[in-house]
Amino acid sequence: MLIKRPDDIRPSEITPPAVYAERRRFLQLSGAGAAALALGGPGALFAAPAGLPGPIAPSPLSTLEEPTPRKDVVSYNNYYEFGTDKRDPARNAHALKTRPWTVTVDGLVGKPRTFDIDEILKLAPLEERIYRLRCVEAWSMVVPWVGFPLAALLKQVDPLGSAKYVEFTTLYDPSVMSRLPVLDWPYKEGLRLDEAMHPLTLMAVGLYGDVLPNQNGAPVRLVVPWKYGFKSAKSIVRIRLTDTQPNTAWNDAGPSEYGFYSNVNPDVDHPRWSQAKERRIGEFLKRKTLPFNGYADQVAGLYAGMDLRAQF
Ligand code: MTE
Repeated sequence: MLIKRPDDIRPSEITPPAVYAERRRFLQLSGAGAAALALGGPGALFAAPAGLPGPIAPSPLSTLEEPTPRKDVVSYNNYYEFGTDKRDPARNAHALKTRPWTVTVDGLVGKPRTFDIDEILKLAPLEERIYRLRCVEAWSMVVPWVGFPLAALLKQVDPLGSAKYVEFTTLYDPSVMSRLPVLDWPYKEGLRLDEAMHPLTLMAVGLYGDVLPNQNGAPVRLVVPWKYGFKSAKSIVRIRLTDTQPNTAWNDAGPSEYGFYSNVNPDVDHPRWSQAKERRIGEFLKRKTLPFNGYADQVAGLYAGMDLRAQF
């Protein structure tokens, strides 16, 4: 199968203390940060960089864990359209053109619409959400995303009562992407509508306070922090609401290995390796994987009554 057992992280991949952590500490001591803290609520943590509307507010839904160094977040990637080695996307994804870019939202909706990416950026205030990301290959990261809830986009198109699922289709441009049939391109992913509408489900347009690098899924990608990383479709061009469970790229490639739900679950092993532990990028010792990647309090209720071994 294509997703491989994790390689050990080489010492050369471990970077010095994150510049970003320093920047956050500085901002917290600065006027904007101090004012936000004094008000006891979310405030403008930083002005937006060129290419994103601002200001960007810190989200109370962020984990307090230390973010993975930026260097690792942007150089250890899965984006198979640009190659299957972890370093390939950072080497090759510069060829991706992210303007002009549109995202069509259609299917079982009252108001189907094609959005320009610059309209999408202004649909809802941008937030910084620091989330754990747990890959099915048993490594993990903590990523400071910039984005907005997917629900804000879906509400624009009035989902019909018959809509039960959401299918995400990502760009496939063979002029800049792999022509090898590694997966059945274009890459597709899917969620149940209630998962898609959950406040934790994010459309990311940036990371580390800046525009999303191409290798991380520019200009817009999904982030579902309680599911394995492959649910987070990159460089989305179409979102379709349906009444039947959509096919997904990894489920089609290996149905016994990659289920539709793919909730992080330390009790359900991948057929070829355990999911009980994970290696946080930059750390040596493995840590225990948490049910729903640590987001159980917020999302376990979505699966009440389901057999999560059968519907993995
Ligand atoms: N999206 C597309 N279009 N193509 C891909 O190959 N890989 C997935 C997901 N989204 C993938 C994709 C996998 S396997 C993972 S683990 C995450 O992206 C990785 O996101 P990151 O590189 O930002 O960590």
